[in-house]
Amino acid sequence: MSDLTAVVLAAGLGTRMKSALPKLLHRVAGRCLVEFPVRAAIELGAARVVVVTSPHPDLHALLARVFGDRVVSVVQEVPRGTGDAARIGLSRAETERVVVLCGDTPLVTASELARVVEASRGADLAVATAEPADPTGYGRILKNAVGGIAEIREERDLASDAERAIREVNAGIYAARRETLAGALVALRPNNAQGELYLTDAVAALAARGSVLAVRGSPDALMGVNDREQLRVAEEALFGVVRARLGRSGVTVHGDARVDDTVEVEPGAEIEANVRLRGASRIGVDAFIDVGTVVTDSDIGARAVLKPYSIVVSSSVGEGAQIGPFAHLRPESVIEADAHIGNFVETKKTRVRRGAKANHLAYLGDGDIGERANVGAGTIFCNYDGFQKHRTTIGEDAFVGSDSQLVAPVTIGKGAYVASGSSITEDVPDGALAIARARQTNKPDYAAPLRTRLEAAARAAKQKKSR
Ligand code: UD1
Ligand code: CA
Repeated sequence: MSDLTAVVLAAGLGTRMKSALPKLLHRVAGRCLVEFPVRAAIELGAARVVVVTSPHPDLHALLARVFGDRVVSVVQEVPRGTGDAARIGLSRAETERVVVLCGDTPLVTASELARVVEASRGADLAVATAEPADPTGYGRILKNAVGGIAEIREERDLASDAERAIREVNAGIYAARRETLAGALVALRPNNAQGELYLTDAVAALAARGSVLAVRGSPDALMGVNDREQLRVAEEALFGVVRARLGRSGVTVHGDARVDDTVEVEPGAEIEANVRLRGASRIGVDAFIDVGTVVTDSDIGARAVLKPYSIVVSSSVGEGAQIGPFAHLRPESVIEADAHIGNFVETKKTRVRRGAKANHLAYLGDGDIGERANVGAGTIFCNYDGFQKHRTTIGEDAFVGSDSQLVAPVTIGKGAYVASGSSITEDVPDGALAIARARQTNKPDYAAPLRTRLEAAARAAKQKKSR
């Protein structure tokens, strides 16, 4: 649509959010609210997308970071209302036609926008409308005798029960020839207590001398977010949209799994109920993510299995690796192909090379574990001396017996053995066996007299108590 500019209104204060953060920076399904309508406008193929922002520096920074030069942002210094914001946005438009939309409608789609734009070609103005189950809070559509829009009446200005009963509401998307809309906006005057300029008043002005079409759309796609309850509802709906998209692309999604809009999941993957996949995560072909697992900003390889209730943060899991149940991969863990990380194992900044295993109860921080090495139950990398972190290196094919402490910095050589229960403070050469624990002594036939002595002591203690 080379003759079209899209203007996204994103400068409101969002007071109903009761938040220091601008409303449009609140996150839903992995993106800030404002990103969704901007993405829809870009997908629509508008020649230019203009975003009207508040002076809040974070909003500008977000748009620059996410969209770069695909959007032009322009500041509304004082939030004087949607009419003022639209006027400021239009000052940056040069095309024949414009579409204006609200920044707080995260479910809006390019096809909903396209329908309004197309309809506007046969009228002075086209306005998207919807019939939500509960119209409270939206401007209501007042029709004229021939079924066009006569006026949009805001909730607080509703004058009668008949008006309150109107179910058709203004979805906040307007398309027109640029000059037509700009002319109506210039003529706006504040007619309310807040001294705001309402974009909806321009609709009435255009209706008085021309034709304003209502373009009925889906109430779900057009819902606006003004408070945190609507934020919650919108996010649940977005998760549903993502589930549907994944299902159609060959991913099995069970139950209520919540996958951010930012996550890439390849075909064949299976995501169980109650899973949460967040941020810049990628899930490979045929991976299996079991119940209750949370993955944030991480890369999960093809055929990897994340067993129930595992937590993966800013890490990568290689092809065919197995994680969990109840594993915790903290940032910068790299679990290579076919490695196993079992229950109650925590890793951090540690590389677990191909085929290595740590199957039970371990803390593996700041380490490098060689290919096929086996780390026994209860192993601890003692990486912190209260001031600095130190590294533990385990060579390929090494075997670390259960309940060992490896006091870093320390290296266990290739193919070496560490005996169970060792406290290793010195490097272990390749191929060596390290034993670092008190030697066992057996006292033959000592158990029976020991038992007799302990029994007597217990009897004496009981008698003393009863006296
Ligand atoms: C607005 C409409 C209402 C419609 C609803 C649809 C008006 C007067 N009312 O109400 O008829 O049913 O949207 O969701 O237009 N904004 C600015 N600058 C401002 C004020 C607002 O950029 O000075 C932006 C906001 O950031 C927001 C959008 O405009 O993204 C809409 O503003 P909001 O205050 O949410 O309007 P509603 O009360 O929802
Ligand atoms: Ca709104």
